[in-house]
Amino acid sequence: MNADLAAIQDDALAAIGAAADSTALEQAKIDFLGKKGRLTGASALMKTLPKEEKPAFGQGLNAARQAITAALEEKQTALQDAADLASVAGIDVTLPARGLPIGGLHPLTRIKDDAIQILRRMGFALAEGPEIEDEFHCFDALNTPADHPARNEKDTFYFDSGKLLRTHTSSVQVRTMEGQRPPVRIIAPGSAYRRDEIDATHLSVFNQLEGLFVAENVSLADLKGTLIYFYQELFGADTELQFRPHFFPFTEPSFEIDIKLHVPGREPKWIEVAGCGIVDPAVFEAICKSRGDDVYHPDKVTGFAFGMGLDRLAMIKWGIKDIRLLIENDTRFLSQFA
Ligand code: PHE
Repeated sequence: MNADLAAIQDDALAAIGAAADSTALEQAKIDFLGKKGRLTGASALMKTLPKEEKPAFGQGLNAARQAITAALEEKQTALQDAADLASVAGIDVTLPARGLPIGGLHPLTRIKDDAIQILRRMGFALAEGPEIEDEFHCFDALNTPADHPARNEKDTFYFDSGKLLRTHTSSVQVRTMEGQRPPVRIIAPGSAYRRDEIDATHLSVFNQLEGLFVAENVSLADLKGTLIYFYQELFGADTELQFRPHFFPFTEPSFEIDIKLHVPGREPKWIEVAGCGIVDPAVFEAICKSRGDDVYHPDKVTGFAFGMGLDRLAMIKWGIKDIRLLIENDTRFLSQFA
């Protein structure tokens, strides 16, 4: 190789070898291979050489460029390896990993899943309906007169169109009967909305689960048997229930269900968990009118219905004191259920 080229290559390899970091290495690259670098400068000599010397000089140039490029790459890798090692210096990489935190189901999801599972075992199928409802499905078909307080603007969220956010999932029961002949055995879990003042036991949206069973000769005994079994499955075989007479426009007779709550160190107390009753014949008549047939005629079928707030059931099950915890997504609260 031409003596000048050999000297340039030697100097380049020495500079690369001496580069302590990537900035120095970049400088070495510029000094030798850059536009104004020494090897680039040497290549300009080409045109001054006699023709017969050109091929050898060209080969020499290539060889020097390749040697320098290879040295640059090798040094770059070595610098990177050293930086990688330095970044884990002092860390014992043989220690077991810390692991990712494990997520868990929200308490509302858990209580809903439990409730659905119990009711499905009893033959109830899941049904759905819209959260934005009309007055017919939410009130009129459910024998709720125009002047009933639940229909008040103060209690219900209305849209300008006259539609509303459903105040209960009973509307799904109406829709199911409109679309399906008896027998019907459904549950409708879903959100319901009321203009409640927000406090420790009220939100303006809550999670409801309603059920409906319509067939020939469905009786109050069926209703009681179903719901006693349900709550004892959910809260334990020793759960005590009481059916307290109440009024709902869409059922007659109607009851509220209380379960007896045992709080350590305190007198047990009854707490309301559901409304229920035997479907009022006026509801069946409205369904017949809407369907245009008489398969739901009150002389042919009877039924029972019930509705409960899942939020309250979760609060009872886990002793949660404030309903707002259920929607705040504070992981200090949620992680207790994971
Ligand atoms: N729809 C009632 C409510 O939201 C609950 C209920 C359902 C009562 C079915 C009786 C029968 O409070």
